[in-house]
Amino acid sequence: MTTFKQANQMVTEDLSNRYFVERYKQVRSFTEQLCEPLATEDYVIQSMPDVSPTKWHLAHVTWFWETFLLSPALSGYKSLHPQYAYLFNSYYNTLGERHCRPKRGLISRPTVKETYEYRRYVDEHVLGLLEGVDGRQLAELTPIMTLGLHHEQQHQELMVTDIKHVLACNPLYPAYLPRAIAASSVPPMEWISFPEGVYWVGYEGKGFSFDSEGPRHRQFVQPFQLASRLVTNGEYLEFMQDGGYESPLLWLSEGWAKVRAEEWKAPLYWENIDGRWMVMTLSGLREVDKAEPVCHVSYYEADAYARWAGARLPTEAEWEVAVQDVPVEGNFVESGLFHPAPLNVAATGGKLAQMYGDVWEWTQSSYSPYPGFRPAAGAVGEYNGKFMCNQYVLRGGSCATSLSHIRPTYRNFFPADAQWQFMGIRLAREV
Ligand SMILES: [Fe+2]
Repeated sequence: MTTFKQANQMVTEDLSNRYFVERYKQVRSFTEQLCEPLATEDYVIQSMPDVSPTKWHLAHVTWFWETFLLSPALSGYKSLHPQYAYLFNSYYNTLGERHCRPKRGLISRPTVKETYEYRRYVDEHVLGLLEGVDGRQLAELTPIMTLGLHHEQQHQELMVTDIKHVLACNPLYPAYLPRAIAASSVPPMEWISFPEGVYWVGYEGKGFSFDSEGPRHRQFVQPFQLASRLVTNGEYLEFMQDGGYESPLLWLSEGWAKVRAEEWKAPLYWENIDGRWMVMTLSGLREVDKAEPVCHVSYYEADAYARWAGARLPTEAEWEVAVQDVPVEGNFVESGLFHPAPLNVAATGGKLAQMYGDVWEWTQSSYSPYPGFRPAAGAVGEYNGKFMCNQYVLRGGSCATSLSHIRPTYRNFFPADAQWQFMGIRLAREV
């Protein structure tokens, strides 16, 4: 699995032609490495409306390069197949009509082979463009090049989570990559205190960030405490065994309705087989490890668990204040585990652990614009801003995120009932 690490190394952003050529090749190649464990049949299935077939992801990220980089910047560029724009536009209304999202799994053509040919065609043109531009032109292309790279990394994570959902629908529980994971223990949770204050939050700097991470602004934060580590499967089992899914007083109204309608009794991918809780992983079905961070819980479940535990979810400002001195390191996709890992230390020693990697941490903050936020002009302005409604912010990245894709200010977002991403729980409380 060393290939995952080698292919996804960080590169110094010196913003030269060579940098972008190498970085483009790395990111594109990593996308395809993630597909190596798949059989051709795996590429096409759409197991629910939120899941896209792997083949669609491969083509969509390619369409993104074609639409936002090649068409405007490479004179005379002709798409390999103009109707691919209809199939592989995701949600950009300003770019015209598009295929219906829940029906992506009904598209058998282009084939997987043709989709890879589409990738090769666009790769050739992007690399040709990059090699032919001068410094001034490169400076103009830098914002869209950088966005394209991070966009493809976002879809790499979605490919992993989507294929997990696809494989989990198979009663034979096929493994994406078999892995032996040893049982382990976990240190006791500690509460770490943070003082009240007016803090700066949001991105500011020369590197890349998504538009929704800014503008940087001040925010007053009350004194608060944050759990030193993530909530584990063992702790979540206690909530379940204490009637967590049968106690309406623990739940938000919409969450309780979901529990009843969907008959939720456990996190997604958990299954009680002959009295034992088993969980589908990308390594196949295995017994729930009590030391691992609980994963694939919705906002509703995270919120209900926190209420049961006498705590609450952190706000995104609290989370960001807390990581000010925490290095960006953890169990990311480069580990090759494709699963959250237990915190294998004797004690957290009064420090925050697992803030990055393993699972995205639900916050209680709605995904809303920061003061002064302005989406970019044109179609690319549809990237984030139009989704700032009915979604909650998650922080810190997961075991399916690339290390080079995450930042302290990164705001991921999903609706409150979403479970299929690697989503988990960190508790907070008032002092
Ligand atoms: Fe996309």
